[in-house]
Amino acid sequence: MDEKRYLTFALGKGRLAKKTLETFEKIGVTCEEMKDKDTRKLIFVNEEQRLKFFLAKGPDVPTYVEYGAADIGIVGKDTILEEARNIYEVLDLGFGKCRMCICGPAKAKDLLLHHELIRVATKYPRIAKDYFYNKKYQTVEIIKLNGSIELAPIVGLSEVICDIVETGSTLRENGLEVLEEVCPLSARMVVNQVSMKMENERITKLITDLKQVLAAQK
Ligand code: PRP
Repeated sequence: MDEKRYLTFALGKGRLAKKTLETFEKIGVTCEEMKDKDTRKLIFVNEEQRLKFFLAKGPDVPTYVEYGAADIGIVGKDTILEEARNIYEVLDLGFGKCRMCICGPAKAKDLLLHHELIRVATKYPRIAKDYFYNKKYQTVEIIKLNGSIELAPIVGLSEVICDIVETGSTLRENGLEVLEEVCPLSARMVVNQVSMKMENERITKLITDLKQVLAAQK
């Protein structure tokens, strides 16, 4: 009899990966190998269940999934929106909850109300562009940064930022605040479009089992 092919998961490194494995354990999907903190291995295999897991940089997860190098990915909604890859988003995992917001000093609120031409610093140029151009019809200049976005309005690089807010402490400690909310975010499961057809039974079962676990948590 043919051995089942491996289902491959790409997980965004860090907090999301840890939460993902905890959630997967609840439906009996495990990977003991991955729990070894000292390992430098990149790919982890569960032979018995015919599963493989690898850790990637969050923004690369949709790329692995679109090309089929991973059948399934777990990644934040922010990354899904920003990367805009051809993949199916199949499930909201409910953890990693935060918000994409337009933030700045309180005095910048007026600039948003009066559709002024302002500069917006962000790690998420596509999301920022979509929000200002397609939802607010405000022409802005988007400045792409790679991190510590909160610095931008403080040092005068931009009037506002478009960034993730979780607890709000980074904003508070830097004299900034949420001015407008763009959208809520959380961890999502994404699936390669061909895998969804070829491995439909296994992937559908995975989604159904996860939905049950998530519903029981509510
Ligand atoms: C994210 C985000 C904010 C911060 C929000 O940054 O860009 O800076 O977390 O969290 P809070 O509301 O709980 O303070 P991250 O730590 O990912 O680092 P970055 O500066 O490299 O983007």
